[in-house]
Amino acid sequence: MSTSPIKITEPTQEQNKWHNKLVLGDCLEVLGRMPESSVDLIVTSPPYADSRKNTYGGIHPDNYVKWFLPIGAELKRALKDDGSFILNIKEKAVAGERHTYVIELILELKKQGWLWTEEYIWHKKNCAPGKWPNRFRDAWERCLHFTKQKNFKMYQDSVMVPTGDWAKTRLKKLGNNDKVRFNSQVGSGFGKNIANWIGREKAYPSNVLHLATECGNKNHSAAFPKELPAWFIKLFTEEGDTVLDPFAGSGTSCIAAYELGRSFIGIEIKDEYYQQAITEIEELKAPPAQQKLI
Ligand SMILES: C[S@@+](CC[C@H](N)C(=O)[O-])C[C@H]1O[C@@H](n2cnc3c(N)ncnc32)[C@H](O)[C@@H]1O
Repeated sequence: MSTSPIKITEPTQEQNKWHNKLVLGDCLEVLGRMPESSVDLIVTSPPYADSRKNTYGGIHPDNYVKWFLPIGAELKRALKDDGSFILNIKEKAVAGERHTYVIELILELKKQGWLWTEEYIWHKKNCAPGKWPNRFRDAWERCLHFTKQKNFKMYQDSVMVPTGDWAKTRLKKLGNNDKVRFNSQVGSGFGKNIANWIGREKAYPSNVLHLATECGNKNHSAAFPKELPAWFIKLFTEEGDTVLDPFAGSGTSCIAAYELGRSFIGIEIKDEYYQQAITEIEELKAPPAQQKLI
């Protein structure tokens, strides 16, 4: 057996420059300075067209695609070929109907060379109350999953969920159809063997994430719940990989990445949010005795 020495590659100065960094600035300009193919996952929530004009500016829905596309091109350049890009977004209603800028953005990003691989739904368990004459409370947002190629890194086992009580109840009384592969009666071609579930403690989740919105003491009006970026970080990266949030806000994705042992890069244009993110990250890095008691 050959005993070739383990090769340890020291990070280059350029790589160190982009390791665990929060950058204050316009992401389009900052992304342009980032090395090509250097990021494993981009997880972000850009400003939601117009809707939060009073807090951090907004882009008119009609101009949204044109505004986003150059950023999309830079993200594609910075992402590794086997990486993923998660875009949390939801179209607003304008003049009584849903605007189509998100649908148009998907089509344009595909033309830019992105594959629209999947759409995850964030079900907001505690959505804001309200009543409108033509629609109900808005309880979900899209988390669009784009990749550069069909084969990308995905660690499905890392997000498995306990099978829970439903499985125990369902598996107690198995009918004949449950013990063999039972083909769908509607002729869809799908089949299942329920008995395969016996003894399984964990199952793969669906593409719907049931999470409450952030209601803690964050001074940002659109902060992620930390579980949202954390779920995608676990699914699409390994320890040591690099996570980028080009619209970092209060730094939630960066904090989740840091806590999960990934390197992070966050870009934020507003000094107030940037300072908030810096403070939170510094607190995390501090030895336990110096950390704020929550
Ligand atoms: C929806 S918020 C993101 C909130 C974030 N996910 C969090 O958990 O706090 C979008 C953020 O993008 C920032 N932003 C807007 N335009 C930007 C730009 N061109 N470059 C960088 N950041 C920008 C806004 O100031 C805002 O904080």
